Formats: sequence, C-alpha cells, structure tokens
Amino acid sequence: MIIPRGGEPRHVRVAVLDEQDRVLLVRHARPAEPAFWSLPGRPLRAGESAVDGCLRLLGELGLTASPAGAPLRRTVTFERSGELVRHEQDIVLCRCGAGRRSPGEGGRWWPPAALPSGEGDRWWPLAALPSATEPVYPRDLADLVREWMPGVSGVPRTRTPSAASEESQVYRHGSERRAGEMDALRHAAHELSQDGNHVMGSAGLSELLGARPPDWQRFARHWEELILDTYMRDGGTYRYRRFGQYDLDTGTRTLTRLPHTSYRQELSVNTLNGGIDRKFEPLTDGFATDPLLEPLIWVLGDVVSAVEGIDRWCVQVHPFRIITSAEQVGKPAPQGRHRDGVTFVTSLLVNRINIVGGESSVHTDDGEVLRVVTLEQPGDQLVLDDRRLQHYVTPIEPLDPQRFAARDVLIVDFVPPADATKGQP
Ligand SMILES: [Fe+2]
Repeated sequence: MIIPRGGEPRHVRVAVLDEQDRVLLVRHARPAEPAFWSLPGRPLRAGESAVDGCLRLLGELGLTASPAGAPLRRTVTFERSGELVRHEQDIVLCRCGAGRRSPGEGGRWWPPAALPSGEGDRWWPLAALPSATEPVYPRDLADLVREWMPGVSGVPRTRTPSAASEESQVYRHGSERRAGEMDALRHAAHELSQDGNHVMGSAGLSELLGARPPDWQRFARHWEELILDTYMRDGGTYRYRRFGQYDLDTGTRTLTRLPHTSYRQELSVNTLNGGIDRKFEPLTDGFATDPLLEPLIWVLGDVVSAVEGIDRWCVQVHPFRIITSAEQVGKPAPQGRHRDGVTFVTSLLVNRINIVGGESSVHTDDGEVLRVVTLEQPGDQLVLDDRRLQHYVTPIEPLDPQRFAARDVLIVDFVPPADATKGQP
C-alpha cells in the first residue's frame, strides 16, 4: 500500500557540490533493508521556503554554501519498511564556499553515534555515480547537476543532449524480428489501417518487447520522477509529466534522441493549453535508457511505417501521471473528446494505482463510439490514427480516498519530421 501523505510536509533536499565537483550524499542502511545513498534532506517547517530550509540544513551540516538557481520540485515514491511513501521534494543545488569545515576524505558531518549503524556520508565524484554499487537517489542526480550547473567537471555526457548545439546520440536496432513477431506487427498494421485504431494487449506486447512482469515494475518506477505540469489553464494540479523527442528512421534502422526543447502547440490544436512555449523537464537518463523504451518505439514505429508507407518519423515521448484524491478528480483528457493533431497517437498503460475510471474511448467526428476499452494491465496499449478519429479518457477517482491514487501512462506520438509541432495536451 501507499501511505497517504495528506499532512506530510514538503521536504527540501540539498545537492551541494564542493570545489572538486563532488556531491555530498548520505548513506542509509537500516536493518533488513537494502542500503542506498541520497541527498541530505529535512522536512520543511510551516511557512518555510525551500531556500530557507536549505540554508537551515546547510547550517546543520556545518557548510557555507550558496543556492545556485531555482529549486527543482518533484514527487518521489519510495519503499520504506515494506510500504510505499510519497514525498513532495524541493531539490536545491548549492556550491560549497571556501569556509566549509574540512572533513577529509570520506568525512562525516554528524557524530557517528547519532547515526544508526551503517549510515554515514561521503563526498562522491559525480563521474562515479553511474557505477555506484548501491542505489543513489535521485537516479538522475548527475544529469540534474549537469543541467543546472553547466561546466562542472567529471560528468561524462552520455545519452541526454541538453542543448541544440550538442551532438545527438544515435543507436541502432540490430536484431532481426522473428516470423511470429512479424505476424503480430502485420496484424496491428492491418487493423490500424482498416479501423483507424488497434488495441495491443499486455501479453502480446510483452512478447514483442521481451518484457516480463519485473520489467514493467522497473519501468513504472520512472513515473515516480515526473514533474508537476504547471501550465494547466484549468488550474488543476493533478498532472505530472516529462517530455522527449526522437528521430526515427525505420528504413535505415536508426533511432536518434533529439536535443531537448520546449514544447509548443498552437491554440487551434490545443484549445486548453496551447499557444505558448511550455518547458517540461526532459526524460531522465534512467527512463531513456530503460531496456523497454527503445524496443517499444521500434514496435510502434514498424507498425505506423507499415500503415503509412514512410520511414521517417519524429517520435514525441510523453510519460504522464494523473493523480487523484478525495479533494481532486484527475482528468486524463481535460479538454474532453479530442484529437491531438498528430498522425498517430499511442497510449500505453504503465500503472493503475488505487483508481476507478480511466476508461478510454474512440469516436468518429460525428460522435459515434467505435471502441470503449479500459487499459488495465501494464503493457495494454491503444494505438490510434489521430487524423481519422477522436479519443477521450474518463476522469479517475480514488478507490480508497485515504490512499495515494494515480494513473500512469506513456503517450508516444508519431508525426512526420516536418510536422513536429503538434501533439499532446
Ligand atoms: Fe489525447
């Protein structure tokens, strides 16, 4: 179960770098639980800002440091003593001043006697984080630092270009599809072509992706790292998301992650939230390199290429979390029945957590209902020709209002490269 966090204070976490671009991490090693490392943090006091909380924590740590940039707000869900706990966190990046106390290598800021056995702290070189033998949270810490503080040393740039001038990463799909897989793709393409929509069940898609239940569980954990969408003109605070784009060429078998950009839709496409540049956080490296993501794009890409007879696509990737509670209905489709202004839109269910509702439907422009389906299992997926049909998803509410409730989906849109300014609400 997930512990309800109705009265839970917001937390501040401090990512503090020393003169050698090392970050201070605290090791947690409670009995019978796997050890992990995290940023130092504290609950915020009533009325306390993230920066004030950060300065208070720095004082406790004996550090003299200055916040660098605005705090990053995110929601994290983690397991503690067998239960899932949800935290709202503000992460503040700081640079250590020369006045800090010198702990020496592996130094300790708290008296060892004050810490449970096995806990401690350490300055970690950023470049060492990816090869840490124990989990480090947040998983994309090196990326966060790199995004906020360009020029820090020791962080290898791998798969996440963050500016237009940076080189995109190119990776290829090397494996051949088996005959059975080709039959499944042909069937999907035939139905999508004939009917304008197709549902891939979890079992079939899992076989195409080589995904087992633990893979879906791992994939779902990336949804704990989505960021609140603050552009909602209906005032809702129920949507969390990130955004990334790829260039896909199913002819040359090349998939290229594109540099991160802001996201724009015209008002004529998105009457609720369009008409402005919206800056969503990029996909985390952990998500972008998850073993499920790339095969999923290839499966979908092969289907839509077969339907459309073209090889090149701009693929827009939108992980979404819609939350709901006793106080707030969650709206997966706040604009009502609609189309997204792309060529093909695909919706993959990643998780349903303590919810009712979230029923998907497909409509003609005349309002005729062609399909009603509730995506229930991780891996259930609806694929639509967005030009031909409209779609809708009913609001969600909690089954148990005392518990955290959310619907996690991955929307993947396909548009021709020259047409890549449309997309999700
Ligand atoms: Fe939509």
